[in-house]
Amino acid sequence: MTDDIKYSFGLWTVGWQAVDPFGEATRPPLDPADSVRKLAEIGAYGFTFHDNDVFPFDADDADRRARIDSVRRAAEETGLSIEMVTTNTFTHPMFKDGAFTSNNRGVRRFGLRKVLRNVDLAAELGAKTFVMWGGREGTEYDNSKDLHAAHARYAEGIDTVAAYIKERGYALRIAIEPKPNEPRGDIFLPTIGHALGLIATLDHQDIVGLNPETGHEQMSNLNYTHGLALALYAGKLFHIDLNGQNGPKFDQDLVFGHGNLLSAFFTVDLLENGSPGGGPAFEGTRHFDYKPSRTEGSEGVWESAKANMEMYSMLAAKSKQYRADPEVQEALAHAGVFELGESTLGAGETFEQFLADPTTRETFDVDAAAERDYGLVRLHQLALRHLVG
Ligand code: GCO
Ligand code: MN
Ligand code: MN
Repeated sequence: MTDDIKYSFGLWTVGWQAVDPFGEATRPPLDPADSVRKLAEIGAYGFTFHDNDVFPFDADDADRRARIDSVRRAAEETGLSIEMVTTNTFTHPMFKDGAFTSNNRGVRRFGLRKVLRNVDLAAELGAKTFVMWGGREGTEYDNSKDLHAAHARYAEGIDTVAAYIKERGYALRIAIEPKPNEPRGDIFLPTIGHALGLIATLDHQDIVGLNPETGHEQMSNLNYTHGLALALYAGKLFHIDLNGQNGPKFDQDLVFGHGNLLSAFFTVDLLENGSPGGGPAFEGTRHFDYKPSRTEGSEGVWESAKANMEMYSMLAAKSKQYRADPEVQEALAHAGVFELGESTLGAGETFEQFLADPTTRETFDVDAAAERDYGLVRLHQLALRHLVG
């Protein structure tokens, strides 16, 4: 990689043995510490993991500690950053009806304790982000839960984790990961917008943001780049899960850019360059949550990991050329893209002044406005020339 973009990978991504609902593993297990060394070799900046990617659910304290230390040593040897840690509250059968939103209060308390223990681990290892993906928080049947209470318990759980982080003085922020479905028929907080809505009700919302995943928004036929832009606007884009998806279907977890490439280009353009009028770019690590396809052997795992970084870097370089192209800048100006950055009301303009301004009605040339050619197709064609020309 010739640029200095910081890339990271979940240990569960390269470590996926390709068990799916229809078939057994096609690859042998990987030692997490070996994965860390291999990620360093291919040029990653960091890695992330669930508690149970590193030690089993039922590990005793000594075994748990030995396995954590093995991964920590690999991180120290290689200089890789452990930038995010997350908790598995979905694999064990006890979580089949959820963790924070299980109808079983005992399961909710067990789940909360598991998450708090993992917060301690995240802080110990120097992670900055604590992702919460509620894969089992949801339903197949709408009468299976008190939906009001479910959202209250979800909010209570997140707020309790946030309060614990503050009480312990940890430098951690929570990032909620929305997903519409799979494994549940419907998962709570299915999209970026839903999650922002719940966050706004929290007592500790200042340290709670989002970890939006490309494929998860696209599973709902939504525009991932628009969702990222909203999260950035709200100051809530704490972390990202990049991958590839071809429209609304099961969670494909393809290599970034191997799904909807055009959307991936505009995602990278936003993350790298911010909005054309000066809206913020993304400061965090470029994190991949993909799955090496089931058809790939051990070599294919690392080829696919490299492909994520190569795709992102190629798109980043193209997005820079696109932004620097004077013809693009002229086309953006012609389209009014910069004009959208001007506030609609004048500075300090009163209702009286606004209502008395003849250009807001009496003298405004509505026919000219209706006839305006924004040149958006030409602008888009310019983008595509940079992308595939
Ligand atoms: C999925 C999710 C997960 C989460 C991970 C982090 O669809 O399975 O994307 O991979 O990102 O559990 O909490
Ligand atoms: Mn996913
Ligand atoms: Mn994810």
